Amino acid sequence: MVQTEVPRLEEKEFQKLSQFIESEVGIKMPPAKKILIESRLQKRLKKLNISSFKEYCDHVFKESSREELIDMIDAITTNKTDFMREPAHFDFLVHRALPDISNNKNQFKLWSAASSTGQEPYNLAMFMEEFRRGKSGLDYSITATDISKSCLEKGRSALYTLKDIDDLTLDFKKKYFLKSKDPGSDQVKIKKHLRDKVHFQSINLMKDDYGLRDKYDIVFCRNVLIYFDRDNQIKVINRIVSHMNRGGYLFLGHSESMAGINSGLTSLASSIFKKD
Ligand SMILES: C[S@@+](CC[C@H](N)C(=O)[O-])C[C@H]1O[C@@H](n2cnc3c(N)ncnc32)[C@H](O)[C@@H]1O
Repeated sequence: MVQTEVPRLEEKEFQKLSQFIESEVGIKMPPAKKILIESRLQKRLKKLNISSFKEYCDHVFKESSREELIDMIDAITTNKTDFMREPAHFDFLVHRALPDISNNKNQFKLWSAASSTGQEPYNLAMFMEEFRRGKSGLDYSITATDISKSCLEKGRSALYTLKDIDDLTLDFKKKYFLKSKDPGSDQVKIKKHLRDKVHFQSINLMKDDYGLRDKYDIVFCRNVLIYFDRDNQIKVINRIVSHMNRGGYLFLGHSESMAGINSGLTSLASSIFKKD
């Protein structure tokens, strides 16, 4: 059997790639991440039929290689997400944040910043549907953004598996998902009325201008700041806060902290903040 050699990521190329990733995407790339980057990008080399990381760097940093930059970012981002991830946030949302906001308005704007494959924004839509039941005139829209093109595509497709929706209640499964007509398939799709509430768009949180016209009442920005260094965390939080309405709520991931960051927000609970 012929053994093909797996390309190895040498220090020089690691430096080039890691500097680019840190400055463009914000993700910290200490030396300990070399093995991870190597294994994630080996798939790109294989796909492009490229046999060394030097050749890959020459290719990816060429003016004409915009497409590959997008695929490289897809390969290096960690997209882990779930329905009902960090459920205490949804509890706070339904019992405290939404009732509070509804004292002053009935048109809610929500933003899932770093929405990955869509579970988080669709989950928000489910809770908004529950909250607005019986409250005539109350409506909402959800903006779901991420840097990863493949995540945005998957989110727009709204297709998941039965296993993906394991953590949702039977009630939510029935109300918000369609089963495949093929009895052997494990695919489910978010129902159209919910899909219509969620709009996916590409935003790189590292950019100065997010191009957003709206201001938001609820922002979920969970499990992405953790990949950024402190300077970038501060910049991203300040930009997000500038896109929030007064009285709006910001939810970070449970392991993400604002300690030492002067965001102007009031801390209400672990990882939950309000713009007064
Ligand atoms: C671990 S997922 C978190 C998904 C979801 N918020 C959750 O908590 O389940 C992190 C997401 O951040 C996105 N991401 C990483 N860097 C980003 C950047 N600079 N701008 C926007 N999104 C980014 C990744 O593509 C990935 O989908």
